[in-house]
Amino acid sequence: MMMITIDDNRKQFHLTNGKISYLFHVMKNGQLGHLYYGKAIKTAGHIADFQRYNIPTPNTTHLEANDPAFTMETTRQEFPVFGATDFREPALSILQDNGSHISNFVFDSYRVVKGKPMLEGLPATYVTSEEEAETIEITLYDAVTDMELLLSYTIFKNVAVITRHARVTNRGEATLTLDRLLSGSIDFPHADFAMLQLSGAWSRERHLQERKLESGIQSISSLRGSSSHSQNPFLALKETDATEFTGDVYGFNLVYSSNFLAQVEVDHYEQTRVSMGIHPFGFQWKLEPGESFQAPEVVMAFSSNGLNGLSKQFHNVYRNHLINQKWLDAPRPVMLNNWEATYHDFNEEIILAIAKEAVDLDLDLFVLDDGWFGKRNSDTTSLGDWFVNKEKLPNGLGKLAQDIRDLGLDFGLWFEPEMVSPDSDLYREHPDWVVKTPGRSASYGRNQWVLDFSNKEVVAYLYERMRALIEETQLSYIKWDMNRNITEAYSSTLPAAQQGEFYHRYILGVYQLYENLTSKFPDVLFESCAGGGGRFDPGMLYYAPQGWISDNTDPVERLHIQYGTSIAYPISSFGTHVSATPNHQTGRTTSLSFRAHVALFGTFGYELNPLGFSAEEKVEIRKQVALYKQHQHLMLTGDFIRLKNPADGNEAAWMMVNETGEEALVSHYRILAESNPGKMKFLRLKGLESDAYYRCQDTEGVVRHYYGSELMYRGIPLKGEFNGANGELSIPMQIGDFQSEIFYISKEEGEV
Ligand code: DGJ
Repeated sequence: MMMITIDDNRKQFHLTNGKISYLFHVMKNGQLGHLYYGKAIKTAGHIADFQRYNIPTPNTTHLEANDPAFTMETTRQEFPVFGATDFREPALSILQDNGSHISNFVFDSYRVVKGKPMLEGLPATYVTSEEEAETIEITLYDAVTDMELLLSYTIFKNVAVITRHARVTNRGEATLTLDRLLSGSIDFPHADFAMLQLSGAWSRERHLQERKLESGIQSISSLRGSSSHSQNPFLALKETDATEFTGDVYGFNLVYSSNFLAQVEVDHYEQTRVSMGIHPFGFQWKLEPGESFQAPEVVMAFSSNGLNGLSKQFHNVYRNHLINQKWLDAPRPVMLNNWEATYHDFNEEIILAIAKEAVDLDLDLFVLDDGWFGKRNSDTTSLGDWFVNKEKLPNGLGKLAQDIRDLGLDFGLWFEPEMVSPDSDLYREHPDWVVKTPGRSASYGRNQWVLDFSNKEVVAYLYERMRALIEETQLSYIKWDMNRNITEAYSSTLPAAQQGEFYHRYILGVYQLYENLTSKFPDVLFESCAGGGGRFDPGMLYYAPQGWISDNTDPVERLHIQYGTSIAYPISSFGTHVSATPNHQTGRTTSLSFRAHVALFGTFGYELNPLGFSAEEKVEIRKQVALYKQHQHLMLTGDFIRLKNPADGNEAAWMMVNETGEEALVSHYRILAESNPGKMKFLRLKGLESDAYYRCQDTEGVVRHYYGSELMYRGIPLKGEFNGANGELSIPMQIGDFQSEIFYISKEEGEV
């Protein structure tokens, strides 16, 4: 199937895979104009006739003397520049020798390639066979600066997704300074949208927020040197009446882990421009003759079936084209992490005792978190000294790892490679490796400083240290943490004129270390982490197929975090653990089963001290582990469907269903007890076959049978609530706060 068609006469380009269409053309000034993006269309070719150039007003500036209607002011464009009749924010800006920022990139040529070329130095979506995607690269040229702009668009065969990126190359003799290069820009002909974003803070990451678009600029961004807890590099525009299951929704997600801008500008004629890319604030990149700058990739997904439909596209593209395929459906280990069990306070004896319990609980992996190195007994010291703490672990890490393996568990280890403690041998030896501005003090975050990852020497040092430890311990899992944001950004290795390159060079250093480690140790599973979910983004997913979504392990808080995170990211990427009660972050007391039912929808594990569990608790945990293992394939490869948003009230519900609708795992969470609500509650499912006959097993193991249509249109009956009748209800009751039900549904040959 040809997915990219070109009308050479009209200079019109149409990307379509039967699900979506994306159309643009060369305008009469040679720049690229945008024509359409949305549900797949067929075009008879005249679509560009109605690229409505502006109706001139006395106030309109225009490009040619005799053509007052031809202006960039409101024309829909593919990669706008500022200052030549467009007054909206541009995608590109180059500072030239004479101080000008004006440029005019006109169409030069195009090339269509099967598959998808990779981006140099940056994580990006990829294909495993040429048949999976087609790419068109458009080359544009600005004669005054002698600069080439390459715009790349990839359309995938099986998902309603287009990815875009941009690269500039200095073809001339002069040195130029790039001060803005976004990854993509797209203009919509109206503004009847709500903007969705995933916002929060440490311990309450990625809560879904919505606002109606207003005239002017609305944006989210990060200037923290990481994609951040506060804002995720994601935004969506949804038709104002779109729901979880209906209506058009456009999503945009940047494959990048540092400073970003995601912006929506509504102009004076209510047209909407979405721009996404590296944050231009403080950014400058010097381009010597012959040099190029590559902007990261933006993933654009579309759905005409509401937000759930949009999530399905993102989940599929990330599972099939972003994470390492090795981890697509291979079972992930169910772990016990010792952080909330011991914090920094442990020794070999305690660790081995916990590990023994983990074996007894049928877990697969023991992860030794923070505190195993240097003199690390608190967060005030030793980051950077990645040598075992002999006081805690006198026989060394290799021996501990071997002992744990001998017990029957795999071994995993926590690192925070990008950081250094002021009290560390590494800092004493290399004070110049710290990010700080000369003549200024270096601010603290969690008592630590940031290492200058824009310095190749630093990255090479960390690689060697981690390589040696991986080989010594034969570990199979690494949790890569990053616990503070960057301040006083500056690199002692960069000249003054290139300090604007710091943040990007820093993250390139992080990607380089990930690249070197994942290619040297392809069997090691990486989990990304940044004080919880402070860097949970597609850039990280490329290297680490799972990420610790939050330091908040309270199951009620997690309902909101998991709900929001699932808007863009697949469940198979969520680090989800059952932790102790009362919860360490909120003090809330919840049952073991409620905690496990929330954590099931993720990669699942435990982060608590199992010493002292009662025999009943152990039995329950073993059952939970077995339940997860039984359904893990669904968590890795099924379709996640959100049924109830915890932000809308007292309940949350979602389900994982396999592609054919033959089996599903459904969960319902009721947060606070209700008194005598009086009515029967039903949970209406999705994604099943209407006429199929299903076996439905509830939390207690009771089996009932239903047709798909019953489950989807009438719904599964849920438990009742207290009504004063002392349990004499005809339906089972749930009493007390924080209750949950799990249903396993599987198609059966039988009654039809
Ligand atoms: C922050 C992480 O998110 C936690 O899970 C834990 O690893 C601590 N850092 C350790 O310092």
